[in-house]
Amino acid sequence: MLTLTTVDELRAELDAARLGGRSIGLVPTMGALHEGHLSLIDRSVAENGVTVVTVFVNPTQFRPGEDLDAYPRQLADDVALASERGADIVFAPAADEVYADDHSTTVSVGGITESLCGAPERRGHQHFDGVTTVVAKLFNMVQPDRAYFGQKDAQQLAVIRRMVRDLNFRTAVIACPTVREADGLAMSSRNAYLSGKERVRALAISRALRAVSESFLAGEREVTKLAMLARAELFDVDSVEYLEMVDFETLEPVSEITDATLVAIAAHVGNTRLIDNILLDPSPDNSSGIDPNTTPRETPSAIHQSRTL
Ligand code: PAF
Repeated sequence: MLTLTTVDELRAELDAARLGGRSIGLVPTMGALHEGHLSLIDRSVAENGVTVVTVFVNPTQFRPGEDLDAYPRQLADDVALASERGADIVFAPAADEVYADDHSTTVSVGGITESLCGAPERRGHQHFDGVTTVVAKLFNMVQPDRAYFGQKDAQQLAVIRRMVRDLNFRTAVIACPTVREADGLAMSSRNAYLSGKERVRALAISRALRAVSESFLAGEREVTKLAMLARAELFDVDSVEYLEMVDFETLEPVSEITDATLVAIAAHVGNTRLIDNILLDPSPDNSSGIDPNTTPRETPSAIHQSRTL
C-alpha cells in the first residue's frame, strides 16, 4: 500500500490504474479510523480495483471554537489499519496541499444545509460549505467511480448527494450503515473524548432511537408521540441540541411517518457533541424500524437501512 501526500503523485498513480482498466473507490475520512470507517474501506475494496482512503482533518469544516486542534490525529495507526483492510493508497495531504493561501472558492449547497446540524444559530452552513468544498476537491483529485460515506452522518450524506446531482459529478455516492459498539453507541472518532462515565451516559442517544424504532414497529406513526418516547430516554445527556423527524430526502420536518423518515439526534455529553440517527420506512415491504443496536453485517433491518439510502 502507498502513502501519498501530493496531488501530483496521487494523480500519476490513479491515471495508471485507470489506464489498466481498474475502477477507483474513494473513502474520504478525517482519520482516527474506527470500525465504521473500516466498513467503508471493506465495501470499497470489494467493489473497486483500487481503493483510496483520504486522511485529512479539514480545517474549513470546523466552526470557530470547535475541536480542530484537539481532533485525534494518528496517521501511522490509520495507515496500518487501511493497509490491513486492503486499501491501495492512503492520501494524507498537508493543509497547504489542499488549500492554496489565496484559496477563494467555496462549494455551497442550499436548502438542506440549513436544518439539523446546519441550523443558523450553529453557523452550520459554514460547516457544510467546508464539507462540500473539500469533498468536491477530493472528487476532482481522485475522480473516483464510487465514494463511500456513513449513514451516521445522514445530513452530510444528503448534502453530498445533492452536490453530486447539482454539479453533475460522475461519482456514485454509496451510503453504508452506521456501525455500533455492542452496547449501541454509534462509532465516531469523537467518542474518544468521552470519559468512562460520559460514555455510559451517551448510551441514552441510541436508547432513545431504539425506543422510537420499537414504537414505530408496534404501529405508532405520530411524531409528537414518538418524540415523547425519545425525550424520556434522553435525561442522561447534558443537553439535546435537536431531536427531529424529517423527510429522508428533503430533510423537512414531518408530523406523521408516511414516507421514509430520518429520526436524528444531536446531543452534548460533557464537552462532546454526538450525533446519531435511524431511518424509519413505513412502505409495506419494509414496515420495520432500524434497530440502533445492530451492526451492518448482522441483520436484515440494517440491510434494509442501506437499501433505502
Ligand atoms: O465525514 C467526515 O469525516 C468528513 O466530513 C469528510 C467527509 C471526510 C470531509 O472532510
